[in-house]
Amino acid sequence: MPDPIAMLEEDHRKVESLFEQYQNGQDPLIAEQICTELMVHTEVEEQEIYPTVKSDVPDGKELEQEAEKEHSEVEQLIKQVQQKGFDDPSVPELMLRIEEGVNHHVHEEESEMFPKMREALGSQTLEQLGEKAMQAKQQLVQELRGQTGQAKGGGSTVEGELTKEQLYQKAKEQDIEGRSKMDKDELQQAVGDQ
Ligand SMILES: [Fe+2]
Ligand SMILES: [Fe+2]
Repeated sequence: MPDPIAMLEEDHRKVESLFEQYQNGQDPLIAEQICTELMVHTEVEEQEIYPTVKSDVPDGKELEQEAEKEHSEVEQLIKQVQQKGFDDPSVPELMLRIEEGVNHHVHEEESEMFPKMREALGSQTLEQLGEKAMQAKQQLVQELRGQTGQAKGGGSTVEGELTKEQLYQKAKEQDIEGRSKMDKDELQQAVGDQ
């Protein structure tokens, strides 16, 4: 029985321990892993969790707005890191700012949003959310790592062509629905059609 809150809290702990690892040695691979974990986690929340918070939890609208704002602040920083490259000398400072933003946000979720969800949502709703969140997460992890198992959807790209990750980011910026379930071709189409 998937518990969405336990699942999200598990993600939070994982990212915290990755940040701790990053502080010892500032390994670019760990920085990359943190950014990927955060992108998947925030996207699962925005797609599968926050809409229900907004509609079914007391003060949900404000909670959701605040959370989205905090997500986008962290996303901007992640974007900077990606643009510079994970081994750029400016990255440790940026990672520190990401960590601060994440810590603050995680605290708000765990001390306010999640307890309110537990109180307001029935066990059936929570279970359904958990199911959907788990599926979305698996899908996103696959998508972002380019491991779709399709020759065309993989990580390799023709020069000048956007990677799947970049297409996904564009789709997110354009708020394209169902983006987490799209393969690379579908993302390309959805983004180009806009
Ligand atoms: Fe969040
Ligand atoms: Fe979270």
